[in-house]
Amino acid sequence: MFTPTLRILAAAMLLASASAGAQSTAPIKVGLMLPATGTYANLGQMIENGFKLYVAEKGGKIGGREIQYFKVDDESDPAKATDNVNKLIKRDQVDIVIGSVHSGVAMGMAKVARETNTLMIVPNAGADIITGAMCAKNIFRTSFTNWQPAYAMGVVAAKNGHKKAMTITWNYAAGTEAAKGFVDGFEKGGGKVGQNLTLPFPNVEFQALLTEIAAQKPDAVFAFFAGGGAVKFVKDYVASGLNKTIPLYGPGFLTDGTLEAQGEAAQGMTTTLHYADNLNTPRDNAFRLSFAKTYKTNADVYAVQGYDAAQLLEAGLNAAGGDIKNRDKVVDGMAKAQIDSPRGKFTLSAAHNPVQDIYLRQVKGNLNELKGVAIKALADPAKGCKM
Ligand code: PHB
Repeated sequence: MFTPTLRILAAAMLLASASAGAQSTAPIKVGLMLPATGTYANLGQMIENGFKLYVAEKGGKIGGREIQYFKVDDESDPAKATDNVNKLIKRDQVDIVIGSVHSGVAMGMAKVARETNTLMIVPNAGADIITGAMCAKNIFRTSFTNWQPAYAMGVVAAKNGHKKAMTITWNYAAGTEAAKGFVDGFEKGGGKVGQNLTLPFPNVEFQALLTEIAAQKPDAVFAFFAGGGAVKFVKDYVASGLNKTIPLYGPGFLTDGTLEAQGEAAQGMTTTLHYADNLNTPRDNAFRLSFAKTYKTNADVYAVQGYDAAQLLEAGLNAAGGDIKNRDKVVDGMAKAQIDSPRGKFTLSAAHNPVQDIYLRQVKGNLNELKGVAIKALADPAKGCKM
């Protein structure tokens, strides 16, 4: 019936469709580069749990594809970031890297992701530059920039009538950029910020710096610490008695995922963040219940960011019919996604960073309770981003 040429053509077409089929049924290889040790270990675990919870809720598949996980413990060590991310990209040949918690590590990852054109989602690290000069088509974030929650805290502290503040942070991008965000918001509201006291990450010997705060007597203190370091700082601040005369403010990392360990010391503290523990929306309630049932612990901001990273990947896959290699469609789908996040719906800016409400929260018991919206739909200025 068929001429030999037609037969060859038909065979070629069959082969092509078979290989396309194979490609679209193979699992998506997801590389998780998160801290499994050190002061941020718990944050990494919450991100991973959040990501996997979303995939599990979807029956183990997103965009019609199964997910296969590859992991490295990045130890929150920027010096090892290049080697670590290359284990995922070169050795494991992952389709996408998800990471990390620490800004310095994420910058190392983003540099390699840019050079190798690897798809990347940042599920925490706030390094401003990833939304600025290092922004790229293939790099997305489901968390925040260090500037965002800190700027909102500065605005609120000025509104609360404080005039003279000091900042205290770890001496790396997250700390110095958060301090800068606070200064922007506080000085816009008429306040003045004195010295930024710092100590190396992840040190927790705060005594000398607390003595310095006592000597300078500002009328408010802004601090960036997170994880195990935040637990110790809040306790030390209260033990020093400073909290009696000088209120302590910070981006919500100071009290998120830490309240059980901080206990009494954190009670009444006011912070700003893109999440709170009692948003009481159907979406968030369902998420928190599902998370608590699965992991026997309460969700926090890190869990939300991990969960949303899976949602963002799904948006890209859906736009590309499940074909992760169809990069233009994946990127387009991710860039245009509206994420139905437990924190509230959000979209991404042109620089691929969430445009989101920053909530005002106050600690009561083991919850960061919602007190209002500090700033609605806050976008990072994305200075220097050209895409
Ligand atoms: C960061 O390094 O960007 C960082 C780490 C922990 C946080 C927030 C930001 O909770």
